[in-house]
Amino acid sequence: MSQEKFYITTPIYYVNDKPHIGHAYTTILADVLARYNRSLDAPTFFLTGTDEHGQKVQKAAEAKGISPLEQCNDTVIRFQELWRELEITNDKFIRTTDGAHKKVVQEILQDLFDRDLIYKDEYSGYYCVPCERFFTEKDIDENKCCPECQRDIQEIVESNYFFRMSQYQEWLIDYIKTNPEFIQPAFRANETLGFLKQPLGDLCISRPKSRLSWGIELPFDNDYVCYVWFDALINYISGVGFNQNDEQFKKWWPASYHLIGKDILTTHTVYWPTMMKAIGIELPRTIYAHGWWLTGRDKMSKSLGNVVNPMEMIQKYGVDSFRYFLMAEMTLGQDASFTEEAFVNRYNSDLANDLGNLLSRVVKMNLRHRDGLIPQPNAYTKAEKTLMAAVDNAVEEMEKAIVDMRLNQGIDHVMNAVRAGNRYMEQTAPWTLAKKGDNERLDTVLYCAAEALRKVSVLLHPVMPGKMADLRKALGLSGEKLDNCHIGDLKKNDNILSGLEMNDIDALFLRVKLEEIEAIKLEPPKPAKKKQKAEKKVELPEGVITIDDFFKTELRTAKILEAEKVKGADKLLKLQIEVGDEQRQLIAGIAEFYSPEDIIGKVVVVVANLKPAKIRGVESQGMLLAAKTGKDLKIVTVDGEFPSGATVG
Ligand code: MSP
Repeated sequence: MSQEKFYITTPIYYVNDKPHIGHAYTTILADVLARYNRSLDAPTFFLTGTDEHGQKVQKAAEAKGISPLEQCNDTVIRFQELWRELEITNDKFIRTTDGAHKKVVQEILQDLFDRDLIYKDEYSGYYCVPCERFFTEKDIDENKCCPECQRDIQEIVESNYFFRMSQYQEWLIDYIKTNPEFIQPAFRANETLGFLKQPLGDLCISRPKSRLSWGIELPFDNDYVCYVWFDALINYISGVGFNQNDEQFKKWWPASYHLIGKDILTTHTVYWPTMMKAIGIELPRTIYAHGWWLTGRDKMSKSLGNVVNPMEMIQKYGVDSFRYFLMAEMTLGQDASFTEEAFVNRYNSDLANDLGNLLSRVVKMNLRHRDGLIPQPNAYTKAEKTLMAAVDNAVEEMEKAIVDMRLNQGIDHVMNAVRAGNRYMEQTAPWTLAKKGDNERLDTVLYCAAEALRKVSVLLHPVMPGKMADLRKALGLSGEKLDNCHIGDLKKNDNILSGLEMNDIDALFLRVKLEEIEAIKLEPPKPAKKKQKAEKKVELPEGVITIDDFFKTELRTAKILEAEKVKGADKLLKLQIEVGDEQRQLIAGIAEFYSPEDIIGKVVVVVANLKPAKIRGVESQGMLLAAKTGKDLKIVTVDGEFPSGATVG
């Protein structure tokens, strides 16, 4: 691989809530790629940070009765703590509330305004007050309802500032077509090209302070703040010295990779390139969109209570195995499923059985038969050549995998080499060689197995820095040799190990018994509306609740997709329901009143934020509403045709 500089970024994360597995994944991926590039001697810069302006953050602050900046300061610590725990080696952490970033955003705004690339115009649209979102004529139907929450929507006329994004449409289409590496994987480029088949409008880049005050003030009109995405995307250049340090900017820009999740493709592949074109800077080499982590087969969502908390995984299984699982399990670009069972299975088979076992065999044999000193090898036989070929193949494949963003396949090749190491031990049986007193062969076998582990430790170091350092210590690599994890050096085949003294080591990875582990606590579902902190306590008559109490229950419409009886339970039906874009399973005690055929297709009302429970051993994610008299029961449905996922209340 060339020594080209490597500049990698993650999205900057909203500070309305604490970090989850999706944030951890992208940041670990960026970290692993940064570490690989450093190990190939490429000058490397890794930027991550937090997106601190805008409505989400302002709303989260309001819900807690604190200022938006307090909300940012409280939450940013959670991200920084997690990155420390995860051993993330970012070179800079940018916050969009940093003075330097704000200054760059304002300079860019002023420059575009001066060059008439930003103009003021009257904007008419539809505004949903509860959702605080704007919609255009084409988003809404003839009932003039909010497409998100189905509530009444207001037609409003508002003056705003617009970026002349539309004028770059043809240029952008051409750029994407002629630069196939610009949007990756390729099917995401097609998605953006599909989006660009519609006429591209100009981008509204302001918000009147009367509606949203938490943002960077427009330098040419202090009644407005900047739209959060326009501010946030600029972090990729303000973070490496744009308009502040020309030398630094020239050194790192254009970025090698912007890593993003698939949901923020349009902002990165349409808004950002047109902004860069207007600003007059080169475009990054690649915008890479990865897929989503699902919990089992479901989307992670707070209301389902299935969001995986990375801190809990780290506390339970350790940093390195968590990093390893995320990197090994996800095929870049596609969605992946997270379950604790899959985690434990991979942990046991790859780490405890294959890698841990090989290390422990090699160390024990050396301690027992060579006082821990790694011997000089003698002539290689076919067995040694086969093992070394598997290891060298892993080195080559890993290098290619990093360039082609197929990290999980690179890891697979390394694990194949580890398994070849275990086969080699069984085939050459050093314990028998020792018994027979065949010292020549024993020396070669002990050396070769250790050499295979040394190379594996370099290849896996970016993924598991802590455990690979332990493994190297066990091999007797200390001081500078411990730190020298340069992938480039692996091809030299120098004899580094002979004469080093091995150190005994407890199991590198302790086996975990799935039946004995307590499932990780998933995030408890959050109530839809939060009480204001500053709210005064008012005595209520008994049995009376406040509107806030009512809104703790998240009622939503749901469509029944499938229904079947629960075996051995006469009163229960198992339902598969659709709640907006989520699919859930729900158990309802209605089998005496409805047959499965009666209710398939009905749009009903469910409690969407109920803690999932097991009913007769079957998981139920929510509760269906029904009206009941002594002996009759009718489920609550909505009047006429209606979409699922709509708020009821
Ligand atoms: N602040 C914007 C990004 C601005 S970048 C200039 C933002 N922030 S976010 O915190 O909501 O999301 C950050 C990233 O987390 C996105 O890339 C998103 O795709 C990713 N993920 C959120 N949930 C995820 C999973 N369940 N799985 C994988 N990644 C997911 O968007």
